[in-house]
Amino acid sequence: MDYSSLWLNWQPINEPPAFMSGICARVHSASGKAALRELQEGFAAMTGRRPADTAAGACLCITETDAEDESYAFIREGETLRLEGGARGLVFGAFDLLRGLALGKREFDGASAPRYSVRMLDHWDNMDGSIERGYAGRSFFFEDDRILNGPRIRDYARLLASCGLNGCCINNVNVKAEAVRLLTPDHWPALAELAKTLAEYGIKLWLSVSFAAPMELGGLDTADPLDEAVCRWWEETTAALYKAVPNLGGFLVKADSEGRPGPFTYGRTQAEGANMLARALAKQGGKLLWRCFVYNCTQDWRDTKTDRARAQCDHFAPLDGQFDDNVLLQIKNGPVDFQVREPVSPLLGRLEHTNSIIEFQITQEYTGQQKHLCYLIPMFKDILDFRLCHRAENDSVAETVSAVCAVSNMGRDYNWTGHDLAGANLYGFGRLSWDPALSAEEIAREFIRLALGDDERIIAEVLPMLMRSREVYEQYTAPLGIGWMVNPGHHYGPNPDGYEYDRWGTYHRATNTAIGVERGPNGTGYTEQYRKPLSDMYADVASCPEELLLFFHRVNYDYVMRDGRTLIQRIYDDHFAGYEAAEEFAQSWDRLEGLLPEDLFSRVQERFAEQLRSAREWRDIINSWFYRRSGIPDIHGRELY
Ligand code: GCU
Repeated sequence: MDYSSLWLNWQPINEPPAFMSGICARVHSASGKAALRELQEGFAAMTGRRPADTAAGACLCITETDAEDESYAFIREGETLRLEGGARGLVFGAFDLLRGLALGKREFDGASAPRYSVRMLDHWDNMDGSIERGYAGRSFFFEDDRILNGPRIRDYARLLASCGLNGCCINNVNVKAEAVRLLTPDHWPALAELAKTLAEYGIKLWLSVSFAAPMELGGLDTADPLDEAVCRWWEETTAALYKAVPNLGGFLVKADSEGRPGPFTYGRTQAEGANMLARALAKQGGKLLWRCFVYNCTQDWRDTKTDRARAQCDHFAPLDGQFDDNVLLQIKNGPVDFQVREPVSPLLGRLEHTNSIIEFQITQEYTGQQKHLCYLIPMFKDILDFRLCHRAENDSVAETVSAVCAVSNMGRDYNWTGHDLAGANLYGFGRLSWDPALSAEEIAREFIRLALGDDERIIAEVLPMLMRSREVYEQYTAPLGIGWMVNPGHHYGPNPDGYEYDRWGTYHRATNTAIGVERGPNGTGYTEQYRKPLSDMYADVASCPEELLLFFHRVNYDYVMRDGRTLIQRIYDDHFAGYEAAEEFAQSWDRLEGLLPEDLFSRVQERFAEQLRSAREWRDIINSWFYRRSGIPDIHGRELY
């Protein structure tokens, strides 16, 4: 195989339970059969013997029921174990059983159901085979404007299902070039084949579509959502597409965002635009994912009134309740754009009568591009656990959103994710999507044991580094929530003024005495978008969480932090400490030589070498830039340039 099996690399286990010696199956659907095949192959790999096809003696009995949902149940009957569920439930149940066995679990009992019914990956793949913000090789879905299929897609579906996911949107939200034509019959036979491969593992196929498709494809002179011909075009196109390609989840739309067409062109609201598409989809049982990443991307840097962080709430909060039931507003986890540290998007707490789907980014656009180690699951956990205070209880983000998605970090590389340890972000996102109550550490431990090897020495080195990695990345890059400070365009490496005089609305506004944008009531008023008491907590420098200080406030360099250090000293210290931690990571990894497959060991070793080089560059450029701005030396006299 020219790609790794990541966490589906079943190894022989100790003391296999008696039920593993045989399987008795009552399955009929393609998914039921896929579940059976996984169990047969998994048991064989773990025990060294193919399970007998039997109902006699201790065995695993799997029974497919008519249930439409994704739940499943284990029932113990003496030495026999029963697994019951609908077609899709059996797939998730089979992988749950295999994972449990591989991790040493021997008793299985009780039912399981996913927290969300939509748990998906968004691929930003283009049909020419390139991937926007992709750091793991080219697309495995597309090449030369064609749709690919085959064993790798099947293994992709297995990977998704085995960690709990059930959907993928295969094409970039920026729908351009050939991708516009995914809505034409030319591509439907290939799409139908792809959808079938995915469906076997309970994965639904979703498509990003262009809001201007009626003009781009339908020969109409408008895409106005209130125009009858436009509505009819979408209705007919959607109906024909669903007929040709069953197993579609629906559409994902980036409208009126970064140059993409949308309802604003026609003076219509985001709700009018979304509902028109949602109605065409509703007739087919489909859903519409409508992105809220709507902001002015042609700002003049001298304009200090406009605050990009406010944009999504300003646009969407007043429309709460105006969206059809099959619309999910897709909201990035933070108000700006996937920085290593941002507050939780206030829009999440402002929708009482509208469905939402939170969007995370596991492709590491701003978090080291899969060259740096950055385990994102602790951050996702903090976000999911964050209480939005829009109601007295059950007000966490996890309890508020109706679905979850993440921008994919996968590509055609041997290890799927570029950095072998970045597989933990994919695995972890899937696990959380099924059960947001799992802890980041539990998930990391599972990933290490399944993907790297069940050896205490490996866990002892890799677990602490995964758990610290995000904080370390944060320390040597842009400080305390200020964000951005990256090279424009590709977003890798430091450049403190890279976006400062550009049109994207991401400014730090540093002078020789102070830095940051004041977002309290006396500033842009962004803090008012949160519910009380959050708005008060963020508004006051004294109660604002320090890790977000520069996101919310404009502060002098000699501002005294809670531990007595000045802001500038904290910035210097973090950058030196972050670099040292990156050095420790590289040393820690070196100690694993001989315990891991040679190719995996050296691939990751190379990544750590690049992380170190880049962390040094970040440290020196950021620290020196602050030193030159402020004129304040490091009290410890370390080297600044
Ligand atoms: C970021 C990213 C783009 C992407 C956009 C989006 O701005 O850099 O590549 O298209 O987010 O989420 O739509």
